[in-house]
Amino acid sequence: MSTVINVADTTPGIRTARLAVGHDDATGMQAVIAIDDTTLGPALGGVRWVPYPDMDAAVTEACRLARGMTLKNALAQLPYGGAKSVILSQDGEADRVSVLRAFGRLVAEFDGTYIPGVDMGTTVEDLAVIGTVAPDVACNHADPSPWTALGVYSGIVAAVRHLDHSGLAGHRVVIQGVGHVGANLAQRLANAGAEVVVCDIDPARSERIAASVGGRSVAPEKALGVPCDVLAPCAQARVITTATVPTLGCRIVAGAANDVLSERSCADELAGMGITYVPDFLLNAGGVIHIYAIRSGWDHTRLEGVVMGIGHRTGDVLERARATGRTPLDIAEELADERLGHPASVPI
Ligand SMILES: NC(=O)c1ccc[n+]([C@@H]2O[C@H](COP(=O)([O-])OP(=O)(O)OC[C@H]3O[C@@H](n4cnc5c(N)ncnc54)[C@H](O)[C@@H]3O)[C@@H](O)[C@H]2O)c1
Repeated sequence: MSTVINVADTTPGIRTARLAVGHDDATGMQAVIAIDDTTLGPALGGVRWVPYPDMDAAVTEACRLARGMTLKNALAQLPYGGAKSVILSQDGEADRVSVLRAFGRLVAEFDGTYIPGVDMGTTVEDLAVIGTVAPDVACNHADPSPWTALGVYSGIVAAVRHLDHSGLAGHRVVIQGVGHVGANLAQRLANAGAEVVVCDIDPARSERIAASVGGRSVAPEKALGVPCDVLAPCAQARVITTATVPTLGCRIVAGAANDVLSERSCADELAGMGITYVPDFLLNAGGVIHIYAIRSGWDHTRLEGVVMGIGHRTGDVLERARATGRTPLDIAEELADERLGHPASVPI
C-alpha cells in the first residue's frame, strides 16, 4: 500500500483537518478519507462506494460530505467529529473483500480517529469486513437507515406543522430515490395519510415501492417539478442548484440526501421563492444517533425518543428563522458552531 497523507489547513488546537489519498497496488483499491473536524470526538462518517469520474471529484465529494458530518454530529449533540470516505469504483477491480480489507488498512493509519460507517454503495457486511482490519467501525451489525428515515419523517411532520398548523394527511410528498431510507420514509408518510409520489433511476424499484405504499411513481426527470407540499431528496447530492430552484414544484425541501445544495446561495434562492428548506444535516441525523445509541447501550424507547427529537429541533430552527428573517441553514449552522466552539460552516 502506498499512501499519501496530507495534513491540510488546520487551526492549531481547534481543528484537525486531514485528507488521506490511498492506493493499494495489490488490489488496485483507490480511496479518499477526509477528516473534517475532531473537536467533539473521533470523526464519524460513512464509506461511499459509487463511481466517480476521477480522483479530484472523489476528493471534493469526500471533503464536502465530511463538513456536513461535522455539522450533523454537532447539532445532534453527539460526541463525534465529522469525516467521510470514498472508494473509487473501477473496472477490473479485485474481489470486494480484498478491496475492503485494503481500505481498512488505510483507515487503520488514522489510529481510531476515523470511524467509518455505511453510506451509498456499502453495506453492514462490508463494514464488518473493514472492521477485521480497522481498529473501530460503526454499522457492522445493524443498518441505520430506518432510524435515518424516522428522523427525516419527524422533521417533515414538524415542517408541515410549522407552515400549515396541521398534520400530514392530505399533503403530497415527492420522494426522490427510494433506496434504504426513501422506501422506509415512503411507508411512514403513507401510514400518516400523506399522498406519496416516488421516483428512482431504477424504474422497477420505483413502481414496486409506489404500489406497496398506495402511492404513484413518476419519472426521475419529472420529480422536481411535481406540484407538492414536500420534496424529499433521498438519493444523490447537490440536486438543488441555481438552475433547478426555479423549476421546483414544492413548498418545503426536506430529505435525507447529504449535501443537497450545490451552493450555499441556493438556501437564499429557495427562501426568495418562498420555499422552506430544512437543512439536510439537521434532518438526517437519525442514523448517527442510532450508532451512538448502540455504543451506549440505549434501549429502543430512548433511541426512538432522541431520533424523534429531530422534529423538535426542526420546529425550533424554523421558528428562529421566521422570527429573525434568516434562513434555516444560517440558524442550524450557528447552533452547530455554538456546540463546536468555532465555525464549521465556512464553505469549502
Ligand atoms: N442510509 C442512511 O442511514 C443515511 C444517513 C444519512 C444520510 N443518508 C443519505 O441519504 C441518501 C440515500 O441514502 P440510502 O442509504 O437510502 O441510499 P441507497 O443507495 O440505498 O438509495 C438511493 C436510491 O436513490 C436512487 N437514485 C440514485 N440517483 C437517483 C436519481 N438521480 N433520481 C432518483 N433516484 C436516484 C438509487 O437507485 C437508490 O434506489 C444518500 O444521499 C445518503 O448519503 C443516508
